[in-house]
Amino acid sequence: PVLVVDFGAQYAQLIARRVREAQVYSEVVPHTTAVAEMLERKPSAIVLSGGPASVYSAGAPNVDPALFDAGVPVFGICYGFQAMAQVLGGTVEHTGTREFGRTDLGVAGGALHEELPARHPVWMSHGDCVTKAPEGFAVTASSEGAPVAAFEDVERRLAGVQYHPEVAHSPHGQEVLRRFLHEIAGIRPQWTTASIVDEQVAAIREQVGQGHAICGLSGGVDSAVAAALVQQAIGDRLTCVFVDHGLLRAGERTQVERDFVAATGVNLVTVDARERFLDALAGVTDPEEKRKIIGREFIRVFEQAARDLKAKGDVEFLVQGTLYPDVVESGGGSGTSNIKSHHNVGGLPEDLRFGLVEPLRLLFKDEVRRVGLELGLPETIVHRQPFPGPGLGIRIIGEVTAGRLETLRAADAIAREELTAAELDRDIWQCPVVLLADVRSVGVQGDGRTYGHPVVLRPVSSEDAMTADWTRLPYDVLERISTRITNEVRDVNRVVLDVTSKPPGTIEWE
Ligand code: XMP
Repeated sequence: PVLVVDFGAQYAQLIARRVREAQVYSEVVPHTTAVAEMLERKPSAIVLSGGPASVYSAGAPNVDPALFDAGVPVFGICYGFQAMAQVLGGTVEHTGTREFGRTDLGVAGGALHEELPARHPVWMSHGDCVTKAPEGFAVTASSEGAPVAAFEDVERRLAGVQYHPEVAHSPHGQEVLRRFLHEIAGIRPQWTTASIVDEQVAAIREQVGQGHAICGLSGGVDSAVAAALVQQAIGDRLTCVFVDHGLLRAGERTQVERDFVAATGVNLVTVDARERFLDALAGVTDPEEKRKIIGREFIRVFEQAARDLKAKGDVEFLVQGTLYPDVVESGGGSGTSNIKSHHNVGGLPEDLRFGLVEPLRLLFKDEVRRVGLELGLPETIVHRQPFPGPGLGIRIIGEVTAGRLETLRAADAIAREELTAAELDRDIWQCPVVLLADVRSVGVQGDGRTYGHPVVLRPVSSEDAMTADWTRLPYDVLERISTRITNEVRDVNRVVLDVTSKPPGTIEWE
């Protein structure tokens, strides 16, 4: 793999993604990883990421000079570039000129920037700068605040840039990264969707052998793709369990029962637990309590289904849709298994011990989507927007009842239909529709006064749901959604728009 050494920037994962977009497999490692340990993994190259520290500050993470003696190609970015310069005998100075944001880069030849415009914009974020490149390095770019903005020693396969090639604001950044990987480091681009599928199918066969596996489907992308991969590998020795907790959106059960099964031919057991969840939620209004109840009931239902299956024969493996970012965030890398929020299955009891099969644990979300398409899953599943495990249960502000679920489901279906018709699905991260069931508002419809409920539209744009901005939807789309909901959904006489970013607001209302 190409190892991306994380110096504490939020960019390391993004760099790993970009390397993979150049069709080279890549993983993130913490900067505390010893060089010997990195070399043991036989890296085809090492990328030193940016980081918040100055190379001068006390406790700044340093780079072990041994890294450059191993003959492994190294690419430094921002802090990694400066650290590299310092260790190899160049000069890093605190000149007082800081550059943040879009910066004009002047290019003077070289392998990294070959064929790129002589001047082009890049994204900078630095206080210190390299004023003298180490011996043997050619300086190939500069900016006003960074006399040495890129250097390379093609012979030793070492190079670096002061700017951030991984961000979208550096329009030629991906090309520079690609050139380093393919041209300077000489790595063959082999990490393709087809190769991912082949490798994972082989790995699953190896792990599961002649065993049997069970997979909980949530209707979401991750569990669907994980199940489809395992199905490809072991066929009908996989059984999928889908728990209908009654808190799903319109059409979701059909999507799993009809579309997913049609695309994969998977064995599916649906457990209809709608009553059970409604009973458990009766009278409950506190959001955290709702979450706990839904999580608890979900596990119980899934456990029972797993027991029933086990009773029929051996089921030794549990398939989970854990993604690479979850693995990295939980400090994992190898071996640690991170069981996500409740709609995956946490804390199964002793008599239900399973080996975990996590075929997506090396992948990022966009890769998972591509794999899903490669496996023939329908777009409706592959590009489904994120939907919380507790479902509509946390989008009804107040008690969850069958009638309120029906109301919200209808309003939500209209909003989704209109967003899809306006081709806005890819522009938004998700658009929760929230029923303010404990609020009533006066309206007038026909000749009569109504006393109904408002629904809230919460369209957000986001990269990872950690932060989000409210999406500026076109007024005519908002108008269509509003008109249709108030006309077609009984009990709703008002549609309001949530214009709060995250922070301070979360995406969901509960
Ligand atoms: P918040 O509301 O915290 O949501 O800004 C961030 C993202 O997480 C989803 N979400 C959940 N997903 N179980 C889940 O599986 C949950 O309990 C849960 N709560 C929020 C939310 O839809 C958004 O994408």
